[in-house]
Amino acid sequence: TDEKTALKQRITALLTEQRAVLVAHYYTDDDLQELAENTGGIVADSLEMARFGTQTDAATLVVCGVRFMGETAKILNPEKRVLMPDLAATCSLDEGCPAAEFSAFCDQHPERQVVVYANTSAAVKARADWVVTSSIALPIIKHLAAKGDKVLWAPDRHLGRYIQQVTGADMLLWNGACVVHEEFKSVALERLRRLHPDAAVLVHPESPAEIVAQATVVGSTTQLIKAVVELPQREFIVATDAGIFWKMRQLAPNKTLLPAPTAGEGATCESCAHCPWMAMNALQNLERVLLNGNQEILIDETIRRRAVVPIQRMLEFAR
Ligand code: 13P
Ligand code: SF4
Repeated sequence: TDEKTALKQRITALLTEQRAVLVAHYYTDDDLQELAENTGGIVADSLEMARFGTQTDAATLVVCGVRFMGETAKILNPEKRVLMPDLAATCSLDEGCPAAEFSAFCDQHPERQVVVYANTSAAVKARADWVVTSSIALPIIKHLAAKGDKVLWAPDRHLGRYIQQVTGADMLLWNGACVVHEEFKSVALERLRRLHPDAAVLVHPESPAEIVAQATVVGSTTQLIKAVVELPQREFIVATDAGIFWKMRQLAPNKTLLPAPTAGEGATCESCAHCPWMAMNALQNLERVLLNGNQEILIDETIRRRAVVPIQRMLEFAR
């Protein structure tokens, strides 16, 4: 609509004025993803979002995603201003792993290397030896297991169990889960697969074991997008947040994409998986934050200095 176009133009002007760039996740609104791409920003998975922030010379990073993504940007780039459309956009994994409890758990297992998923608070990262995202978790745990290290893993138990299964590493798991990926239903997925026997099944590893067991490819958002482009199949059943379809359609317009069924009957779009916190990012609050700068990420310097170490370790390893 005209109104939306005008809003996008105002945001673009504000970004230029403030030397700001958009760093957006694939699960955000189509409009935000499009705007990020068209204004010199990026749409990416969490590892690439973290890396992009360190490589741009923009003065302000506007992180469209959830809170841990904004915090990671600030931890890595303390000299940059980091804004988010809404600081209240959290993540059930982050919420399910409070720093004090987590720290006490680590104290009980001093012999283990502490590996935390990126979907955690700055204070939890400050307690970790390694931070990993879904795209780099497997090779990092393989590397630790090869050295004979035992691992304390938090917070996602589904991702932890999947890594444990693939690598055979000795892992003690925290009991967290993603409320979005937990909703995929395995019997309904089996039924959908019978209706589409030639379809490849793409699964994010935050999904439960019975969903992962049905996968053709398990991977991070970027890895799943790559699979749609590169695999020979024409049809894909996708078990992750529906926000990812925008990029998949853009890069593979001739392929058929079917959302994996969530609670209820099915694969219609009303029952698509979609993260309620990712959905808190919109063009309207993006314009607002650029106008008044109030949703700014600030992190205690003592915590930041500790948290940056395991994140840098991951970025170094990923190079
Ligand atoms: P990715 O790193 O695969 O983009 O995952 C982030 C996330 O929050 C998935 O739910
Ligand atoms: Fe967190 Fe799940 Fe939302 Fe990703 S989709 S941000 S893991 S709640």
